[in-house]
Amino acid sequence: MRSMCKIKFPEGGLCFDYFFDPATLSYEPWNSKVEPFNADFEGLFQNLVVPTAETTRQSYILDVHRSIDKGVLYIGTAGTGKTTILKDYFTTLDSEKVINATMNFNSYTDSKALQTILQGNVDKRSGKILGPAAGRHLIFFMDDLNMPTVDDYGTQSPLCLIRQIIDYEIIFDRDHLEEQYILKDIMFAACMNPKSGSFFVDLRTTRHFTQIALGVPEKEILLTIYQQMLVRHFQGFDQQCINVAPKLVSATVNVFNGLALSPQFAPTAIKFHYQFNMRDVAKIVQNLMLAQPSSYKGNATGLVRMWAHECHRVWLDRLLFDEDRAMYMNYMRNGIKELVEFKEEVVFAEPLIYTSFISMCKGHEPSYKPVEEMDELK
Ligand SMILES: Nc1ncnc2c1ncn2[C@@H]1O[C@H](COP(=O)(O)OP(=O)(O)O)[C@@H](O)[C@H]1O
Ligand SMILES: [Mg+2]
Repeated sequence: MRSMCKIKFPEGGLCFDYFFDPATLSYEPWNSKVEPFNADFEGLFQNLVVPTAETTRQSYILDVHRSIDKGVLYIGTAGTGKTTILKDYFTTLDSEKVINATMNFNSYTDSKALQTILQGNVDKRSGKILGPAAGRHLIFFMDDLNMPTVDDYGTQSPLCLIRQIIDYEIIFDRDHLEEQYILKDIMFAACMNPKSGSFFVDLRTTRHFTQIALGVPEKEILLTIYQQMLVRHFQGFDQQCINVAPKLVSATVNVFNGLALSPQFAPTAIKFHYQFNMRDVAKIVQNLMLAQPSSYKGNATGLVRMWAHECHRVWLDRLLFDEDRAMYMNYMRNGIKELVEFKEEVVFAEPLIYTSFISMCKGHEPSYKPVEEMDELK
């Protein structure tokens, strides 16, 4: 095929890594389209989204679907970034043209709850027609689509209601049974995790959705996200600390990959909580961002110790068996190999506990500091 076609095919990577640019008649990597990270963002850590090849690619796909109001369903296990992709896409929308509403499904969600929320987000346009304010479109986002309880007939009532709306564009008035409304200009977007909730969902509903599977983000994507976040936070720190920050992220990602890919850490009936996902990395980075420049002046070792503490709290505390803990410590030691200037005896020396309540008890502002004496904790 390469020889027949005039357009040059890229050499490396997968077809998913490229898009076709009609202007230059060539394949370009998605990476080239990624917007720079907005370093001035003020707000909650949870809302901080770093643009990556994945978010850029998905936002293009969502745009294409939006233009014809066709549904999109993201499928992936916990922590694959499904919710983040959609929430991030919503921030790029022009609210004069497209508005959005979110509903989180749970096992108690029924068709009535869905209908109430949906109707709360649309206005009466004219006569029997309901829709977002004229000229606008609504993206109705349903998180955890497969959560509602499966009834005796093998159906999930909210999903059947969505199917009815997509198939016939109508919804019934529950008070006056024969009356019906026509719903216009609504696009449905949804996420589901096949490992929680019902594994089978109504095919008559899901056939209306483009189904996109998401996997655990690649190492490069994890590094792009969290190195940029941490480097931004460490701007006011000593040069030594600034140099350490990206290495801490790559060490975290290496430990994470070790845990997530090793069969020893796969969930079993006893170790059912051995689930390692991107949220663990997010938690560690979030806590590292509690560090204040004043506490780490000329003390990069303190920072590496704090990192070890965060990893211990997120991972080590979960492990049940000595051999798992030993294996985990192996990964940790490998993790700090890159940081040659720090000795592992020093980094992992006990007590390795950080809290903010001790400084509070002593009447200072709460600040996240190491505990020097175990007696202080008691
Ligand atoms: N592009 C991104 N930038 C920043 N954080 C991200 C990004 N993608 C995913 N995350 C983080 O990954 C974690 C899991 O994402 P989430 O959307 O909650 O996954 P899911 O909905 O698939 O369970 C969250 O902590 C989220 O903040
Ligand atoms: Mg989610």
